[in-house]
Amino acid sequence: MSEKHLAVIVLAAGEGTRMNSSTPKVMHEMAGLPLLGHVLATASAIGASHVIPVIRHQRDHIEEYIRAFFPTAKPVDQDEVPGTGRAVECGLEGLPADFNGAVVVTSGDVPLLEVSTIDALLETHLEGGFGVTVLSSITEDPTGYGRIVRDTAGAFTGIVEHRDASEEQLAIAEINAGIYVFDSALLRSALGQLGQHNAQGEKYLTDVVSIALNEGSTVQALAVEDPWQVAGINDRVQLAVLSAELNARICEAWMKAGVTIQDPASTWIDVTVELGRDVTLLPGTILKGTTSIGEGSTIGPEVLMTDSIVGAGASVVKSHVTGSYIGNEATVGPYSFLRPGTDLGADGKIGTFVETKNAKIGVGTKIPHLTYVGDAEIGAGSNIGAGTIFANYDGVNKHRSTIGSHVRTGAHNVFVAPITIGDGAYTAAGTVVRKDVEAGSLGMNVTPQRNIADWVLDKRPGSAAALAAEEAQQN
Ligand code: UD1
Ligand code: CA
Repeated sequence: MSEKHLAVIVLAAGEGTRMNSSTPKVMHEMAGLPLLGHVLATASAIGASHVIPVIRHQRDHIEEYIRAFFPTAKPVDQDEVPGTGRAVECGLEGLPADFNGAVVVTSGDVPLLEVSTIDALLETHLEGGFGVTVLSSITEDPTGYGRIVRDTAGAFTGIVEHRDASEEQLAIAEINAGIYVFDSALLRSALGQLGQHNAQGEKYLTDVVSIALNEGSTVQALAVEDPWQVAGINDRVQLAVLSAELNARICEAWMKAGVTIQDPASTWIDVTVELGRDVTLLPGTILKGTTSIGEGSTIGPEVLMTDSIVGAGASVVKSHVTGSYIGNEATVGPYSFLRPGTDLGADGKIGTFVETKNAKIGVGTKIPHLTYVGDAEIGAGSNIGAGTIFANYDGVNKHRSTIGSHVRTGAHNVFVAPITIGDGAYTAAGTVVRKDVEAGSLGMNVTPQRNIADWVLDKRPGSAAALAAEEAQQN
């Protein structure tokens, strides 16, 4: 069918009371996208001329997201009349008055439905010439879903909501997935006839099915094989269960693409993440946002990485990394904290208990132990001594430090920014560096050490220290 005759309405106006949240249900996140993002990505891929999300509850929040990420979708508002039927009625307002064709309805809270399934539903609908084609699923636990009701001959007679169902109907295992294709003319006319005489006092979209049958139209249900595809999210328990399902699929796809994942159950990968071949992910690794990992790198165990890029052959162990770049063959961790703007050059090292922020670190430079580097640029091949602090903040403003290439800084230095250390310079252990150090110089401001002879014997006579000292002096 031509895309001019295909529209998709995405229901996203409900409050989602069962989430018990200040965030609207469809904006709850799963694998890096809000539920609505998953649904709109699918809706946008079926080749429809119109994609119409219907919004109401926290509309501004949701509309902002849609405008930013799905600019061709055209949100419309649902009015105060409640129910999925009313939502679709409002959605039709977003279509040209002369629109004539198939209307796909999907739900903002059914995130894992695949494009191929909608395609199959459309094919069934068009080939059979049905008025309504409903996606259904046979489930072990139909609790909460609308049930597909059939007569003794097995013919589809209607959908009854869980809360309106009789004991007998509650036992039906075939559920309404909340995904449909309607003939647009039939849909318009049936929606006009919907009442609100049900347990929730809402206009139910599901009642369109029995209206269609009464009017002599044909209705078909297509059962989907994978129950996870049509699982809806109404509360946070379902959110957790379905998130794990999606994550298992994401891990499986990456494993097939050449990534080793030792423990998929404890490895969480957003749909937006990119992984190269022969990447190894060790247990407890969480990769979020626009993170991308280059070929042959090993990440984990226990790494949380967000919006960061890692080159090839790098290693990141037990660390927290955000908005950072890690070069080829570089090593990070264990216990490193890379904050936004960290740029570690190839073969570089950020080691144990090191925190970095806005820090450009040159090729082969090492910052191995117990250090804070903020607002700094360090050249290539330098080594920063253990226990160093880049004092970038004077209490009011932040200042930058510049350290050259092949610099050796002593242990326990403080670099009081703004400061510049020239190429090949050294600084002595324990130096508080307040003045620039020229290339090739040794910077030191350590007070010469004075040893007061026999201080312990005088001041702590009879102590274990004094006795040990006396014994040492006699030998
Ligand atoms: C709905 C179906 C049910 C089906 C289930 C599948 C109806 C009456 N029931 O029930 O048969 O088994 O989906 O997941 O349709 N929404 C609006 N406006 C509203 C109410 C809801 O846009 O006034 C949106 C919600 O934001 C949600 C979707 O419609 O995205 C479904 O609403 P929800 O209240 O979750 O319906 P269910 O009770 O799950
Ligand atoms: Ca639902």
